[in-house]
Amino acid sequence: MPNIAFVNGKWMPLRTARVSVEDRGFQFGDGVYELIRVYDGQPFHLRAHLVRLAESARQIGIAPAHSIEQLERIALAGCLRCSYRSAKIYIQITRGAAARIHHFPTQVKPTVVMTFRRLTPIAPDVRVRGVSVMTCVDPRWGRCNIKSLNLLPNVMAREEATRAGHAETLFIREGFVTEGAGSNVFAVIGGRVVTPPEGPAVLSGITREVVIGLGRKCGVEVVEAAIPLDPLRAADEIFLTGTTIEVLPVVRLDGKRIANGRPGPITRQLHTAFLEHLLARPHP
Ligand code: PDD
Repeated sequence: MPNIAFVNGKWMPLRTARVSVEDRGFQFGDGVYELIRVYDGQPFHLRAHLVRLAESARQIGIAPAHSIEQLERIALAGCLRCSYRSAKIYIQITRGAAARIHHFPTQVKPTVVMTFRRLTPIAPDVRVRGVSVMTCVDPRWGRCNIKSLNLLPNVMAREEATRAGHAETLFIREGFVTEGAGSNVFAVIGGRVVTPPEGPAVLSGITREVVIGLGRKCGVEVVEAAIPLDPLRAADEIFLTGTTIEVLPVVRLDGKRIANGRPGPITRQLHTAFLEHLLARPHP
């Protein structure tokens, strides 16, 4: 089967999937989402994504129609149905469809959508060369740890980056880097790997968590600490983490080279550890 969708209990080809124009996800961005990578037919850290999804829903007062276990079964069923080896699962839960009023409607059933699409991984030469990023003032709200549908600041920042030939924008809040428009950020400073701590300005990335764990297992010192912009510019290495990018080296920041302008050894070591972690997973 090609790309498929699950919409409120029904399976269909993705191109025929529809939700109401009165869905509050469409009208207000009133919902939450997850993106999960499928490697070799198996979702990567599915449980952790679903736990984060449930927590995001709880934080905005949505009681999803499905438990984590039910969502897990649906996601695994979708992987079997689409039978892609490399895919991405997008899950979106909204407050549901109702006549447009700002406050939460009383009689509304959450909408659940899952889509399954083939994924083409990042080209190896992009990893070998590394990417260029820019910075901008973080214009987002104060609850970025919720994976909400309200991505307009992220979308606009990424568009500006793309137009200027960069792969990502790093948000700067009160002089400190928070994260990328769609990624977490790490820097190697003074031999230590530093990443901004979890909190309201940072999404608790699943890849971030995996990489912190792998780093510590490999004997790399990893600290969660605020990173001011100047030390970031002077870092020995910078890399991004995220579901689709894994561990991606950054070699230019606002047009200036990071160190010698090539991906650094700790970044490469952590990406290798990430790939080994993938291989070590149980196979279908
Ligand atoms: N985004 N920070 C932000 C703002 C993100 O949007 C993402 C991922 C991350 C990394 O999280 P994770 O490692 O769990 O993917 C950090 C997804 C991929 C997206 O919006 O498509």
